[in-house]
Amino acid sequence: MEIIVRELTAQDLSEGFLESLASLAEVRLTPPQALEVLRNRQRAGVRTYVARMQGQVVGTATLLLEQKFIHGGGLVGHIEDVAVRGEYQGRGVGSALVQHATEEARKRGCYKVILDCFEHLVPFYGRLGYRRHNFGLRIDF
Ligand SMILES: CC(C)(COP(=O)(O)OP(=O)(O)OC[C@H]1O[C@@H](n2cnc3c(N)ncnc32)[C@H](O)[C@@H]1OP(=O)(O)O)[C@@H](O)C(=O)NCCC(=O)NCCS
Repeated sequence: MEIIVRELTAQDLSEGFLESLASLAEVRLTPPQALEVLRNRQRAGVRTYVARMQGQVVGTATLLLEQKFIHGGGLVGHIEDVAVRGEYQGRGVGSALVQHATEEARKRGCYKVILDCFEHLVPFYGRLGYRRHNFGLRIDF
């Protein structure tokens, strides 16, 4: 089955996008609120990609570009919120999304891409060229 990966549009919000994200965490947004979030993210330059199969959204991944003061003002890509709808997992959708976001970062001149993931997904990202690097930490408010 063909997988199409492209940037998120407003129409995708009601065609499986929020259901895809729900495999990662609770979404808790109404469709109008989700549209406002999309507009805010577009203004901030956040790139959200969707994977579509059989006429609906089945997965998503996000790419943020950060320009550093160090490394001569070099660009770093951050991959966030990779999620595939439960019934579509294990069919190459997550791999296609991460490869697409990684390639976009490379094309836009990033010298590296970094991401956080659960321990059990290290082999998944490893097959896509990523290697272990640093520890992830957090504080909750
Ligand atoms: C992790 C996730 C994005 C992978 O997407 P996917 O479309 O299922 O991945 P693919 O079909 O491209 O799978 C590629 C490989 O990763 C492996 N893999 C996928 N999910 C895995 C999991 N939860 N645990 C261990 N391995 C996993 C698959 O076995 C597959 O290996 P194979 O081709 O040798 O069988 C998807 O399972 C998902 O949305 N999970 C819930 C949300 C989440 O954890 N997101 C990641 C946040 S870092």
